[in-house]
Amino acid sequence: MVTIPYFAALTTYFSYGLLFVFGHVRDFFRRLLRTSDAPKGYAPLCRDFEDFYTRRLYHRIQDCFNRPIASAPDAWIDVVERYSVDNNKTLYRTEKTRTCLNLGSYNYLGFAASDEYCTPRVIQSLQKFAQSTCSSRVDGGTTVLHEELENLIAKFVGKPAAMVYGMGFATNSTTLPSLIGKGGLIISDALNHSSIVAGVRASGAKVAVFRHNTPEHLEEVLREAIAEGQPRTHRPWKKIIVVVEGIYSMEGELCRLREIVAVTKKYKAYIYLDEAHSIGAIGKTGRGICELSGVDPADIDIMMGTFTKSFGSCGGYIAGSKELIKYLKFVSPGHLYAIAMSPPAVQQVISALKVILGEDGSSRGAQKLAQIRENSNFFREKLRKMGCEVLGDTDSPVMPIMLYNPAKIPAFSRECFKRNLAVVTVAFPATPLLLSRARICISAAHTKEDLERALEVIDEVSDMVHLKYFPQEREEEETVKRKQQ
Ligand SMILES: Cc1ncc(COP(=O)(O)O)c(C=O)c1O
Ligand SMILES: *[C@@H]1O[C@H](CO)[C@@H](O)[C@H](O)[C@H]1NC(C)=O
Ligand SMILES: *[C@@H]1O[C@H](CO)[C@@H](O)[C@H](O)[C@H]1NC(C)=O
Ligand SMILES: *[C@@H]1O[C@H](CO)[C@@H](O)[C@H](O)[C@H]1NC(C)=O
Repeated sequence: MVTIPYFAALTTYFSYGLLFVFGHVRDFFRRLLRTSDAPKGYAPLCRDFEDFYTRRLYHRIQDCFNRPIASAPDAWIDVVERYSVDNNKTLYRTEKTRTCLNLGSYNYLGFAASDEYCTPRVIQSLQKFAQSTCSSRVDGGTTVLHEELENLIAKFVGKPAAMVYGMGFATNSTTLPSLIGKGGLIISDALNHSSIVAGVRASGAKVAVFRHNTPEHLEEVLREAIAEGQPRTHRPWKKIIVVVEGIYSMEGELCRLREIVAVTKKYKAYIYLDEAHSIGAIGKTGRGICELSGVDPADIDIMMGTFTKSFGSCGGYIAGSKELIKYLKFVSPGHLYAIAMSPPAVQQVISALKVILGEDGSSRGAQKLAQIRENSNFFREKLRKMGCEVLGDTDSPVMPIMLYNPAKIPAFSRECFKRNLAVVTVAFPATPLLLSRARICISAAHTKEDLERALEVIDEVSDMVHLKYFPQEREEEETVKRKQQ
């Protein structure tokens, strides 16, 4: 977990305090003069705090988000330049684009751009099957491609069966309510993804939270929940599902899956593993967190993942026992009522999987997997040495750099952009208010020169924006290491 440096915490609180005070003063006059934007007699349509946050904090740094892109999300992307005449409240596109080194997309294996094996096959499938099935899976939306992918992905993750959805978010948010309802308990990691939160809310089950990635605390929570039973009635829970992620997308941390599985087995709770970021990106053959941490997929009851990252496509999957998948195909609204995954998107995943498995007749898949690991570990080590506060574990391609202070969000983003480096900054509500960060995603498509260039820019900008929270410590570490050698 993050421990905020004392000084950074102080200035961050101070900055937000100032913004809030000024925002509220301005809102006071806004109400006095003009009331809100709602028609007379109506309640305001937008929720209070979110509306305040958008108007008073977010608008000022809007240029750092929603930047339109004019190319594929490859190692380099073309970002459209915009201008504003009202302090960035409204932004207008220009005809100009800026070619930037891309450290923002989830293009872990470099399949997002044109690929010698995948792209021709995707174009063929587009011509044969068209871009949409115009139908849900149970009606006319199951093509032979969908069935092929379901077989392939089940085999890839090591489960007996799988089903695919048109959207990763909906995979989570519609699967959980199909499995658990009133009288059930979901125990989630404290850093839960918003799709899980949506799924849990829709299910009507109770929620408990355990400290981020802490199996010891999970055990405590489980033991207490089982002992207590349901609230008021103290009847036993109908079932308990523990929800974790393979790589936490805002932290870059790997799940301590082996210890967590030991706990869930001991207490006979089910485990739901979200591999949105880990499938394809980690493990020797790309099979994700189970492979990396030596967990048998048979010990995971529900394996969920998305095709939007390593596979360069869209959609998601659930893999599990034959009975589970048969049941979900019968009840999951995301399967029954939503449009089926687009056939060219299905073909993209099939082709990418074949490259990863080496079934395309080349060793490109293995090279990509080695490359992402090498690139990630190289980049993380250099960032750390620089003195930045970098989160996450070895082998993880996601590495957040802590910014904390709200003023540092636009400063970091704009200065990097000026130097042709595209980075993603993340702030509230995706992170806690105090823990703003820039999130770097490394790709197998980055060359060594790309990474070195990016490091140069980040080094320069970090000095400028004062992001090197640990310069001395890191230097001392270095000298100790040198002496040992
Ligand atoms: C952990 C996690 N689960 C689910 C999703 C949703 O996936 P999709 O973007 O494919 O809808 C994401 C997306 O970023 C994610 O990070
Ligand atoms: C608006 O955005 C531009 C660049 O994106 C930046 O240089 C400028 O300072 C911003 N203006 C305000 C008022 O924040
Ligand atoms: C839910 O699914 C999305 C992708 O569809 C993923 O990014 C997210 O991490 C999942 N959340 C959890 C808690 O499993
Ligand atoms: C998600 O996590 C937050 C805080 O960590 C917690 O308050 C909330 O209940 C959790 N929600 C779900 C659905 O897991």
